[in-house]
Amino acid sequence: MEFVCRAKMNGLWVSKAIMADVWQSSMDHAVAVARKAGEMVRGALKDDRTVMTKSSAVDLVTQTDQKVEQLIIQSVKEKFPTHRCVCVRFIGEESVAAGESCNLTDDPTWIIDPIDGTTNFVHAFPFVAVSIGFSVNKQVEFGVVYSCLEDKMFTARRGRGAFCNGEPLQVSEQTDIHQAIVATEFGSSRDPTAVDHIFRSLRNILCLPVHGVRGAGTAAINMCLVASGCAEAYYEIGIHVWDVAAGSLIVSEAGGVLLDVDGGDVDLMSRRIVAANNRTIAERIVKEIESFTLQRDDAPLQS
Ligand code: IPD
Repeated sequence: MEFVCRAKMNGLWVSKAIMADVWQSSMDHAVAVARKAGEMVRGALKDDRTVMTKSSAVDLVTQTDQKVEQLIIQSVKEKFPTHRCVCVRFIGEESVAAGESCNLTDDPTWIIDPIDGTTNFVHAFPFVAVSIGFSVNKQVEFGVVYSCLEDKMFTARRGRGAFCNGEPLQVSEQTDIHQAIVATEFGSSRDPTAVDHIFRSLRNILCLPVHGVRGAGTAAINMCLVASGCAEAYYEIGIHVWDVAAGSLIVSEAGGVLLDVDGGDVDLMSRRIVAANNRTIAERIVKEIESFTLQRDDAPLQS
């Protein structure tokens, strides 16, 4: 959509065509609903942490994850029954756990992790995020990560920068891996072969040496730390599209780069990611990762 604005310059009227952002109202809604979801998470932290398990004994879920996801999906459906005449689609962590398909199509799609850092939430470990990404033509158009216990609202709109509580974000300028902080996680698989790979990669990176290895317990917040310049990189094998959709745009709009752990282009459905402040750091980390392949998020459902 285009509209024309007129302004006087050096005594002359000039007309300028301005492109309206077709997804701005969706992004505003994502920010508002993430804030509401964050209030729900903070409230539940005091009294509702009944724990259930999903794919393994350490893959946790609570009723709050499910309630928050419903809140987000319902409010989006009410506000946007369609997007530009196309039915609105969702990929939500808990809906997928309940058996819904997880396919990223060209249609406008809301990609939701109601609580990124569920294990943290269960233990009141203070890093918990609501993560909402929105993709069109398989490209993330905007990302919102609300770190609800820190009250930090991270946002990014494709081509328009990344922000935290309205302040612009910029990745670190460090190019020397030896001066870097690298974030990673152990994930929720305890398959001994996968754990061996994870530990060998971790050992390789730690002994480069790097200044330090950290992990907030949430992929989304780890990525926001890279975008904020507090960590040079984050990598993980085992994440899901809902953990990283929003964060990936926040990193790239803050000036960072995304790669697959084998050094190719990142594929949000592949469950592997390297997010770094620049290509030098990203490629250095890729060299040290002992990669392995997991079932993709969009693998056909087993009947
Ligand atoms: C998890 C967190 C964790 C990462 C896992 C994710 P969840 O998400 O992001 O840091 O190690 O791979 O699945 O289950 O808390 O939404």
